[in-house]
Amino acid sequence: MKTPLVCRRKGPLRGSFAVPGDKSISHRALLFGALATSPSRVTGLLEAEDVHSTWKAVEALGARVSRDGAAVVVEPPAALVEPADVIDCGNSGTSLRLLCGVLAAVPGLSVLTGDASLRRRPVRRVLDPLRRMGADLSARDGDRLPPVVVKGARLRGATHVLPVASAQVKSALLLAGLFAEGETVVEEPAPSRDHTERMLAGRGVALRADGPRVAVRPGRPAGGEVDVPGDISSAAFFLCAAAGLEGSRVTALGMGVNPTRTGLLDVLRAMGARVTLANGRESAGEPRADVTVEGGALAGTEIAGPLVPRLIDELPVLMVLATQARGRTVIRDAKELRVKESDRLATMGELLHRAGARIELFDDGCAIEGPTPLSGVAVETKLDHRIAMSMAVAQLFTRGEAVALDDVGCVRTSFPGFFELLDRLCGGER
Ligand code: S3P
Repeated sequence: MKTPLVCRRKGPLRGSFAVPGDKSISHRALLFGALATSPSRVTGLLEAEDVHSTWKAVEALGARVSRDGAAVVVEPPAALVEPADVIDCGNSGTSLRLLCGVLAAVPGLSVLTGDASLRRRPVRRVLDPLRRMGADLSARDGDRLPPVVVKGARLRGATHVLPVASAQVKSALLLAGLFAEGETVVEEPAPSRDHTERMLAGRGVALRADGPRVAVRPGRPAGGEVDVPGDISSAAFFLCAAAGLEGSRVTALGMGVNPTRTGLLDVLRAMGARVTLANGRESAGEPRADVTVEGGALAGTEIAGPLVPRLIDELPVLMVLATQARGRTVIRDAKELRVKESDRLATMGELLHRAGARIELFDDGCAIEGPTPLSGVAVETKLDHRIAMSMAVAQLFTRGEAVALDDVGCVRTSFPGFFELLDRLCGGER
């Protein structure tokens, strides 16, 4: 059943907000907790559908996951067990791809599937390198698409040189490496988010990271405490809206500022926005801070090369913001956007064009000429949470026109309270 929503709000945005837990780190806290030698206690876990997919999956593999007040406790089994049923990863690419690496070593048969969006997303990128470690996996449509069938096998370490920077693929291979004989090495063309490396190394796994090259030796992580920082990819919608709306000032409290994730802040600064960090601290190997963004005149910028993996999930909302900046914004080297929850280049390109933006699409990016006021549009969200939230931000850049979203159910995958928070900040502290 679809949940339509008509957005008709007005900026500026003002106020501070606690950022929901980081999705990438939440998945890893549950999954690595299930592989650990002792229980883990997780606070700040993101409570959203994608993370619940990983939660259900680790239970199916024998872990016990329970709530203890505001914390979630993961009790690992002595060894992971063959799941009794198909594992449904819902909309979550991270669940499915990371699980491929783990299940490759779990005795028995496992099947991974997902919703219509996930079943259109490529898996060969994990299957091929895992096979080089001796794994036995196959998938639909000539090994291209989920469902994925995995038969547990004896794994051996290998050296992988990835053609694209992908934290999901890198993590799947490092996880398989925990169960393999010998060393597993993964080299990326540019560093992607390093939450897996930080969490595994922080829990005693023999892992060495050296720029875009990571090496891991077999072993199980210890359990422990994880306090999940706020997700910059969720805060991004408010930070970008504030940057583009004169008179705005918002503060994202406790936001993760791991340098492999903060490309957004670099871009906002390059566009001329005022970005300040306060109260910097570190917990469980991940830095966090309270991040304030103030609105003002923006200029176009260039986003390409190693910056791209550092802000890949923020590009849809940055495309929206670019329509409000003076001059030309060029995005390159972002072909990966085409294989996210939807083809985000095509989807955002078409929507922004229909909303009156001057946008030219390339195979690996786009060029946007601004500033242009946007007009109201009807949006098909295509099971893609970041499209829904980006277009809710786009509505703030119209002259009071409505943006009609056909289905906002997808927002529950990462940010169930998104619209309520947007209402609060739009009506907030003048
Ligand atoms: C993620 C990695 C990225 C990102 C996704 C989460 C992760 O995907 O887009 O939302 O948690 O490892 P890729 O690894 O495909 O780049």
